[in-house]
Amino acid sequence: MLVLGIETSCDETAVAIVDERRRIHADVVLSQLAEHRPYGGIVPEIAARSHLVHLDRLIGQAMAQAGIGYAELDGIAATAGPGLIGGLLVGVMTGKAIAAAHGRPFIAVNHLEGHALTVRLTDAVAFPYLLLLVSGGHCQLLVVEEVGRYRRLGTTVDDAAGEAFDKGAKLLGLGYPGGPAIERAAAGGDTCRFPLPRPMLGRAEPHFSFSGLKTALRHRVAELGGNLSEHDRRDLAAALQAAIVDCLADRTAVAIELARGRYPGLATLVAAGGVAANQQVRRRLAATAEAAGLRLVVPPARLCTDNGTMIAWAGVERLQRGLTDGLDFAARPRWPLDPTAPKAIGAGVKA
Ligand code: KG4
Ligand code: ZN
Repeated sequence: MLVLGIETSCDETAVAIVDERRRIHADVVLSQLAEHRPYGGIVPEIAARSHLVHLDRLIGQAMAQAGIGYAELDGIAATAGPGLIGGLLVGVMTGKAIAAAHGRPFIAVNHLEGHALTVRLTDAVAFPYLLLLVSGGHCQLLVVEEVGRYRRLGTTVDDAAGEAFDKGAKLLGLGYPGGPAIERAAAGGDTCRFPLPRPMLGRAEPHFSFSGLKTALRHRVAELGGNLSEHDRRDLAAALQAAIVDCLADRTAVAIELARGRYPGLATLVAAGGVAANQQVRRRLAATAEAAGLRLVVPPARLCTDNGTMIAWAGVERLQRGLTDGLDFAARPRWPLDPTAPKAIGAGVKA
């Protein structure tokens, strides 16, 4: 069973071909970073245009890498949401066209499900498992019960963890994307010189909040007169990273306890999404998992950030269960994994 996966929901144009024996036959990723960098963030119109310009060629490259023809594909999967609608439309239309032209099933994949299921490709992790999904757009704790069945335990009331890294890096003049820049700058920095808050720490429900952290960081920068030395930058980056890591670990520990009560067989904590590429995040989550008697599984860094392999693999898992979609499936800018989770919690939780 060979599935072609297309990912165009954000700023990576990515294509991969994967089979049900967990082999990756092709994996190509084109980052648009250089195109967005001058603007300090992703410009949706530029992203959509760039996907349109490059996607066909990348699909050709992936087919050549796998050494197969379209007739040998068993399904075509494309990210259909959530994400930037312009990019989603490019991927979904292209996927549907290939499916229609070659008489193969089309599979509309939820980008978050792609992140969620990656560990089943890399490590054959069994259901159920607790997932900390931490990326530029999402920060959630979910129990992955089955393909297509997710129970959200916690989410962010404002920014995602990746956003906190990105906005922090912008404040410190470290460029975009912020996560890797903060991680590099923080190496050897003093985490205690600049006090930063730990929003939500100790709360009974495993929700997150990061916007106050960004404001506090802005105050620390202002207190220095806005004139940062390399030394200041290193210590501020270290303080920000330490605060984010503390929040992620504390909220995850609470979610583990909650999940345990409902899923007695729970044995695995999984971290996925771009922020899971961070070494400090990994180290702390490993300790959190160990303290609770769980094992931590994190995909390799290149499969944590956006890629085509995760979409192709989600396509395989869906195809195996007969979960295919019609050519009338419409791309969705918003598409929660757990539709039963409340849209707003307390002060207004983002779904
Ligand atoms: O999963 P992803 O590639 O795209 C989304 O679906 O959002 O995640 C991108 C996010 C960005 O916010 C980026 O700053 C963050 O992941 N990120 C990191 C690291 N690498 C990427 N954050 C912290 N440390 C990293 N090493
Ligand atoms: Zn992502």
